[in-house]
Amino acid sequence: MKKTISFFLNGTIREIQVKAETTVLELLRNSLELNGIKEGCGEGDCGACTVVIGEVREGKVHYKSAAGCLYLAAKLEGKHVITIEGLGDREKLHPIQEAILKAHATQCGFCTPGVSLSILALFLERKNPTREEFRRYLEGNLCRCTGYVSIRKVPEYLEELIVCSEDIRPNYLTETEEKQLNFIQEDIYTDDGIHGFYSPVSEENLLDFLQSHPEFTEGNNIRFLNGGSDVVVGIKKHGQHYRLLLDLSRIETLQKITYDEKSLTLGGGVSLARMIDTVQDIFPEFSDTMLKMCSEQVRSIATVAGNIANASPVADTVPLLMAVDAILTINGGKGLRTIPVRDFFKGYKKLAKQADEWINSITIPLGEYNFIHFEKVSKRREVDISSVNSAIALKVENGIIKTAHVASEMLEEVRNTERQCYRIS
Ligand SMILES: Cc1cc2nc3c(=O)[nH]c(=O)nc-3n(C[C@H](O)[C@H](O)[C@H](O)COP(=O)(O)OP(=O)(O)OC[C@H]3O[C@@H](n4cnc5c(N)ncnc54)[C@H](O)[C@@H]3O)c2cc1C
Ligand code: FES
Ligand code: FES
Repeated sequence: MKKTISFFLNGTIREIQVKAETTVLELLRNSLELNGIKEGCGEGDCGACTVVIGEVREGKVHYKSAAGCLYLAAKLEGKHVITIEGLGDREKLHPIQEAILKAHATQCGFCTPGVSLSILALFLERKNPTREEFRRYLEGNLCRCTGYVSIRKVPEYLEELIVCSEDIRPNYLTETEEKQLNFIQEDIYTDDGIHGFYSPVSEENLLDFLQSHPEFTEGNNIRFLNGGSDVVVGIKKHGQHYRLLLDLSRIETLQKITYDEKSLTLGGGVSLARMIDTVQDIFPEFSDTMLKMCSEQVRSIATVAGNIANASPVADTVPLLMAVDAILTINGGKGLRTIPVRDFFKGYKKLAKQADEWINSITIPLGEYNFIHFEKVSKRREVDISSVNSAIALKVENGIIKTAHVASEMLEEVRNTERQCYRIS
């Protein structure tokens, strides 16, 4: 078990000791004096703190944009962080920076590092991104001065500048990818006696740890986290601190997506962004729902399991999962068990699970309903939580509705009532 974190920063390996609650934004600005990253909102809403993170999955390095204000530094083991300092310099701008300049898409420059890195993540992950994908990756980057018309023109200038897609890759990337692929992952455990952080690489290691540290479980002193998009906002903005954070994001078994004709199963660590890309053809209603949530730099770290277990009265995946009869598989000291999503909520922020149990996977039946629909009402179209949301699933035979499931959530009233799913058969 390691106490220090080894990660790559703009192509160079770094070995550091971090505190449990330190974010990537704090690490870069306060400890490493890389001030290109900016802090705007500090809670995932503005994109000023965007970094690119490269991580190994299924034998390949994948890149994503991530909100540095929500991403805990202790999760960085084996990952590659690319910041604006890792792109061009005064002598030679990176093609993305040059395109931004030509499109007049920067003025005060506060948002520009974040905008540049969102574009970099897009081009590293997709060779020929569409304009729609460009819009999707940039919807979380707010700009107070330039206006979005010029930012939207950046791809046009970029097309003129790039001779081939290799030109977009920083020159240290290939060598770093090789090192990342050979990196041996180990558990991380750091604890200053007030706040601890444990990040296992397997569910077995997690079980062993929980069994050998009853002091954490008995006192209910633990909090699981995955993306941290809820937990870290709680820590930084609402003073909700925990004795021990248990990170599930590095466990490989929780990263699986499997499906056949009858069902789709998502590991408890699968991010919303991965889901959007993977299930578009299998369960388009679910992809569409997740496109209405957060922004790319939050969706790339936030998970479906976190959305369920956070037990927010307006968690957008929940009504849909209830309506289609999704089942959770829970793991923990007593072994694996299953429970329907509709039975998982016992009241406001109360779940039908023990504090030391985690969501291993979510299974969604496929082909049961002829009509599935999710609707969300929010103050803004992008990056806003629901005021009201609802989902409906209908089974229709010979023009007659045989089964109807309707589930709905509401921001204020639900605090006093319970989440409801009506079943009419
Ligand atoms: C800017 C912003 C916009 C947002 N917009 C929306 C929105 O439009 N709609 C919406 O529904 N939500 C929204 N959210 C909320 C959030 O993104 C989601 O709830 C997200 O899916 C949480 O996932 P996570 O992995 O980040 O959870 P974390 O923050 O890591 O954890 C959240 C909770 O779930 C628990 N948990 C996490 N994983 C597991 C697991 N496998 N087993 C058991 N417990 C677990 C944690 O202990 C914690 O209590 C937004 C958040 C932000 C910051
Ligand atoms: S500082 Fe606004 S998203 Fe991180
Ligand atoms: S250029 Fe000033 S905020 Fe975007």
